[in-house]
Amino acid sequence: MSAALSSQPAIAETVDALRAIVRGYRAEGETVALVPTMGALHEGHLQLVREGRKSADRVIATIFVNPTQFGPNEDFARYPRDQEGDLAKLASAGANAVFLPTVAVMYPPGFATTVTVSGVSEGLCGAFRPGHFAGVATVVTKLLLQALPDAALFGEKDYQQLQVIKRFARDLDIPVSIRGVPTVREADGLALSSRNAYLTSAERAVAPRLHGLLVEIAEKLRAGEDAAPLLAAGMDRLREAGFGPVQYLAFVDAETLAPLDRAERPGRLLVAAYLGKTRLIDNIPVAPQGA
Ligand code: PAF
Repeated sequence: MSAALSSQPAIAETVDALRAIVRGYRAEGETVALVPTMGALHEGHLQLVREGRKSADRVIATIFVNPTQFGPNEDFARYPRDQEGDLAKLASAGANAVFLPTVAVMYPPGFATTVTVSGVSEGLCGAFRPGHFAGVATVVTKLLLQALPDAALFGEKDYQQLQVIKRFARDLDIPVSIRGVPTVREADGLALSSRNAYLTSAERAVAPRLHGLLVEIAEKLRAGEDAAPLLAAGMDRLREAGFGPVQYLAFVDAETLAPLDRAERPGRLLVAAYLGKTRLIDNIPVAPQGA
C-alpha cells in the first residue's frame, strides 16, 4: 500500500464497526481520543484532531449532523455538508478513523431516551434554543458510550456546550476525560464556525466586531469595573454595528455559568447575536482582577 493510501482514516458506519476499530487499538495497548463534529470542518475542528493526537495514540473523529439539537425553525436542512472534503481534511490532520453514522444508526425506531442537564444548560443559549442542549447531551452521551475513548475534545467556541458535557460526564460517571480546546480565530478575530459560510461579504466585514467588543469589555472587567453597565452599553454597540437581535451578552462564572457582577473569580464573557440571518456566538476568558 502506498504511504498516501495508508494514511486514509478507517471508516465506520455502524456502532459495531466503530467498536471493532476501537478494540483493535486497545489490543495494541493504544489510547484513543474522540473528536465529535457535525462536519463542515474548518481549522478549529482540525485543531481538535491535532490536540487529540498529542495526548492519545489514536484519534477517531465523528461526523453526524444531529437532528435532535436543532429547533424546528433552525438550520438543520441547510446546515453545510461536505463529506468528501471533510474526509480529506481529517486525513491531512492525522485522524486514524472516522465514524459516519446515519440518523437511523443513532436513533433507531423506538428510541426513547433523552439526557437533560439542569443548571448549566438553562441560561444563555439554553434560554433561546429550547431542547438544544438535551439534543447535544443525548448524542454526545451515545458517542462516548459507543467509542469509550480515553478523552474527548471539544472547542471552547461552544463554551456552554463544553460545560454541559463536562457536567453530565461527571454526573453519569462516564470514564472519559472531557477536554476543551481554545477557539481558533481568523486574523481579524472572528471565531471560526461552520456557520460563517452563511455570511454575506458585507456581514463578514462586520462580524469581527463581536470579538473586538468582548476583548474591550474583558479589559475593563479586569480593571475592576462593574459588569452590568459594560454589558448594557455593549449590547447597544452591537446593535449600532448592525447586529440584531442580540440575544445575550453575559459575564458568568467560568464553570457554573452563574452571572458575575465583577471579575472576582475566573469568569467568561459570552455573546450570541444575529447578523442578518446568521446566529453567531463567541466567548473569551476573563481572569480575576490582578491575576
Ligand atoms: O459542537 C458540535 O459540533 C456538536 O454540538 C456536537 C458536539 C458534535 C454534538 O452534535
